[in-house]
Order: sequence, then structure tokens, then C-alpha cells
Amino acid sequence: MYSKKVMDHFTNPRNVGEMPDADGIGEEGNPVCGDAMKLFIKVKDDVITDVKFQTFGCGAAIAVSSMVTEVAKGMTLDEAMKITKESLSEALDGLPPQKMHCSNLGADALHKAIEDYRSKKA
Ligand code: FES
Repeated sequence: MYSKKVMDHFTNPRNVGEMPDADGIGEEGNPVCGDAMKLFIKVKDDVITDVKFQTFGCGAAIAVSSMVTEVAKGMTLDEAMKITKESLSEALDGLPPQKMHCSNLGADALHKAIEDYRSKKA
């Protein structure tokens, strides 16, 4: 059973879409279930000012994606690197055990987007 928060973010996901002028892009997929996520960030002075995502996946993956965009917005890059699948699942009031792998997508895609931004800047 999904929590109310998961259902809310699943049925009404925040920050869905593309970002043509993204500063960093992270892509993550799960080969087991075939789900995939693309996450875009906008960065100013080391702070994430905007986040958008596109996810092809299950309800939990969409809820996690939506939640990661909300949590990461306004964070510094270092703070955002500390977001974990556990913290995302907690922010959603928990995920069923068999759905915990879905929360990897959100944290990993975010971290990849930050790495992408940093490698472009370097
Ligand atoms: Fe694979 Fe949810 S079932 S991401």
C-alpha cells in the first residue's frame, strides 16, 4: 500500500517536463523493471534554483521523482549530493519494501545531474 503522500505525488507530480537550458542533466534507469528517469537542474551560485524531471516508470518512481525535485530545489550542490533513497522514501512517508529500488532512481539521477553540471563547469 502506498502512503497518502506517495499517492499525492503520483497523481499530481510536481515539476514534470523538460528544461531546454538545463545546466546539468542526469539519466538513470533500472534494467530490471525497465523504468527510466531524466532529471534537469538549473544552478546559480552553487544553489539548485530549478529542477524538472521526466520519468517513464511505476507510481513509486514518479512519486520519488516528484519529491526529489521539491526537496532539491533551493539546496546547495553539496547538500543535494547528500540526498539518499532513504531520505526520499522518508519524505514520502515510506515506500513498500518491494518498491524501495524505485527510490534509487531519484537520488541517482539527481547526483548524476550535479556531476554533469560540475564536469561541464570544470
Ligand atoms: Fe521499477 Fe518502480 S518498479 S522503478
